[in-house]
Order: sequence, then C-alpha cells, then structure tokens
Amino acid sequence: MFEVTDKDAMGRIGKLKTPHGVVETPALMPVINPNIDFISPKELKKIGAEILITNSYIIYRTEKLREKAEKDGVHALLDTDLPVMTDSGSYQLLMYGEIEVSNEEIVKFQEKIKSDIVVPLDIPTPPDADYSTALKDLEETIKREKEAAEMYSGEGLLALPIQGSTHWDLREKSAEEAAKIGGDVYPIGGVVPLMDAYRFEDVARAVLSAKTKLPPNKPVHLFGAGHPMVFALFVALGCDLFDSAAYALFAKDDRYLTPYGTEKLSELNYFPCSCPICLEYTPEEMRRMEKSEREILLGKHNLYVSFEEMRRVKQAIKNNELFELVERRIRAHPYLIQAWRAIKDYYDLMEKYDPFAKKVFFYLGTESCLRPAVRRHQERVLRVKTDKKEIVISSDYSVKADFYLKPPFGVVPAELMESYPAGHAEIPEDIDEEAYRTAAKGLKLFLEKHKDKKIRLVVDEKWRKFLDDVQA
Ligand code: GUN
Ligand code: ZN
Repeated sequence: MFEVTDKDAMGRIGKLKTPHGVVETPALMPVINPNIDFISPKELKKIGAEILITNSYIIYRTEKLREKAEKDGVHALLDTDLPVMTDSGSYQLLMYGEIEVSNEEIVKFQEKIKSDIVVPLDIPTPPDADYSTALKDLEETIKREKEAAEMYSGEGLLALPIQGSTHWDLREKSAEEAAKIGGDVYPIGGVVPLMDAYRFEDVARAVLSAKTKLPPNKPVHLFGAGHPMVFALFVALGCDLFDSAAYALFAKDDRYLTPYGTEKLSELNYFPCSCPICLEYTPEEMRRMEKSEREILLGKHNLYVSFEEMRRVKQAIKNNELFELVERRIRAHPYLIQAWRAIKDYYDLMEKYDPFAKKVFFYLGTESCLRPAVRRHQERVLRVKTDKKEIVISSDYSVKADFYLKPPFGVVPAELMESYPAGHAEIPEDIDEEAYRTAAKGLKLFLEKHKDKKIRLVVDEKWRKFLDDVQA
C-alpha cells in the first residue's frame, strides 16, 4: 500500500495506494469543514491537492450531512474524486474535552461513508500531562485501536494515532503497540498545542521517539502541522502526510504564509510571491476588500505556497539535498533550529534511513556538523588500514601526507580527498569553530586507534587551539 521510491535524511518520496487513487507523498491534505463554504474541493485540486481530509464527527452530528454521506459516500458529499481521509472527532476531544460518540460508532460510520483513511477515536493527551494520566489515556487509545482493527472491514486504510503527551517513553510504547496491532498509516497526535506554542523541539522529539518503533515501510502523518515553514524539517524527520487547516485559519486572521514564517497582511507593502493571487492584487488592494473575499484570496495564496514548498521538499529528496534545505529553513525561527538539533540524540535512527551516497555536501552552518555523513565518515576512517610506521596528517593540502585534516570531517585519507563526503564538501574558508571541534573529535578517535604508531601532525594556526583536547 505504500511504496518508497526515493530517500534522503529520514524523508522519502512514496506512493500511497488508496481506494480513490494513488497519492504521492510527502503530501499535504487540506482540511475541509463540511459545514463551512470556503475554497471548494474542486479548487483545492486545481491548486495542487492530491488528497483531502475532513472530520467524520462533524458530518456524523449534522443530520443533513450525515444522511447524504451515508447514502452516497463522503466523496459525493464533498463533491470530489480525490482520496479523502476522515478524522474521528479526537481533535474536538483535544480542544473541547468532550464529544458524543463512541469509538465503535465513529469507526463504523467512517467505513460506511467510504473513507480512504479511517481514524479511531484516540485520546489526544495534551502536552505536559502527568505521567499517570498520559499512561491511562494511552492505554485507552491502544484499546480503541485494537477494537478498530478488529472491527474495520472496509477497503480504506486504517490509521493508528500515536499519543503519550510529552513523555517520550510513552510515545515509544504507543508506537510499539500500534505497530503490533498493524496499521496502514501512523499519525503522530496530540501535538497541535505544541505547534501553536512554537514548541517545535517537543514535536520533533514526539516524532523521533515514535519513529524508533514504527515500521520504516509505513507512512507517518503529523497531525496539525500545516505551516509551510515546518515541512522540510518534519519531512526530514520521517513524516509523509501533513494536514493543513492553517491555510484557512491564518487567512481568517489576515495572515499570509511563507516558507520563512507568517506575515500580517496589515504590515505588507509587497507580496513576496508570484502565485496567481499575488500577481493579481497588491496588499493594499486586498486590505480594501470585503473580509469574506479577502479571506478566500489569502486562503488560496496560503495553499499555493504550501504546495510549492512541498514540491521543493520533494525535489530536495530527489537531489539528496534535504539536509541543505532543512538547514536553510530552520533559520526562519530559533525554535526550529533548536528542534533540528534534537537529531543529535537520534543518530542511530537517522543512520538507518539516510542514504550513504550523495553528490555534494554543502556546509551551511553549525547544524551541518550533525549530518550522519560526518560521523559516518569518522567511523569509516577508523577502519582504513595502514602498515606505515609513521603517519603524516596535514591540514595543509599542498604538503604530501597520508591523511589530511578537513573540518568538520576530521581525518581524511589522501585517496579519499576526491570522494563523497569530505572530497565533495564545499566549506567556507573561515569555517566556524563547531566544525573544527567536530573534526577534532574525529582526529582524537583516529589517534587513539593508532596510538602504537608514530604520528606527525602538520597543522596550521587555526587548528592549534583545538588540539589540546585531542592530545589530552
Ligand atoms: N487532530 C489534531 N490532533 C489530533 C490527534 O491527536 N488525534 C486525532 N485523531 N486527530 C487530531
Ligand atoms: Zn501568493
């Protein structure tokens, strides 16, 4: 049902088969509220949507919608031929604390209306909940997921959400249990309040801890991450599906999305975008419009940039340049930088996914030191055999040596000075100290490994202050 065709970092391009067609992932699913007339599914498809998401609970409790959906299906209700994922009402549970439907009822209902991706009624425990509350909620979620798996007999895919609040061991447990039950899609849930508070590091840890236990050949959905600024980061952490209510919510609030963050329409003199909307109107013209008209135009722009960013992320995967794209994008917000740095605690996981062979390594800042290619190189160099009694290591590439020093990689065998990664790395001449420190760690490992041999180090001025640690 899910076939991965290209990989980079922990991201991938995949084909997800649903009863209403194949969707290429990573994909963004615009959220449709069937009660609100906004941008129609037909227009969403024109703007770039390949799959939509709606809320089965809203349909269920609105008699007119429910009758139509039960009779003709959710696709007819929304008037679309695109695949449709349906959520269960858990979001309402998260935001309002209470709903009037059982797990069994809502799963049956989603089956009946021919949803392409069905979601049980998981319990979205909020962030920072007590451990015991989070555990108790999780046990109920697991019970409901088992019930759904036993009961559901439709042709759609079954999604099993991962919960556990901000307790990473519970996130792991949730993923482990869900994998045992066996879902087709694994959404990471309960993160909307974290996203809203810009607690991206906690979202990243929720994703990473789940990924350690989820099967690598199944799609992961990140519930409630609809801002284009975060797509590259979360795709690189292994998320394949995203849903966006953001395009509509931000538009309602006169906010304009970009891959670098959010702008207020009131503060814009120019539109930094060439979508059909931004070419046709100026910010001033838009401000003078009726609210309802403006909201639709802003919503459309928000969607155009979101799909554009997702295509850019996919191209970066194809080119094996996703690290480069992420390192550029995280500069949109300090907390995104902080979130990305969490990968240093998940090196082994990243190592499992990230491809070995790439074309180039562009050093774009201290976070480039965290790429698996760096550590992988340092480990590989330790396995290089040499029978020389004296090894010459030089930071000056014009000196004849057995090994050279190159930040952030460390020790590079002369014969690998033209190979990926170190030999294909473009680094700034005045590279930062973090790159030297990273390289020094590699050098230290190398010296320990060859401590029985005589080593001659030829180093320039810049290297001196990093050698104390190495030789200690
Ligand atoms: N929408 C936003 N967050 C969640 C969640 O945790 N679970 C479900 N089912 N839907 C959501
Ligand atoms: Zn635009």
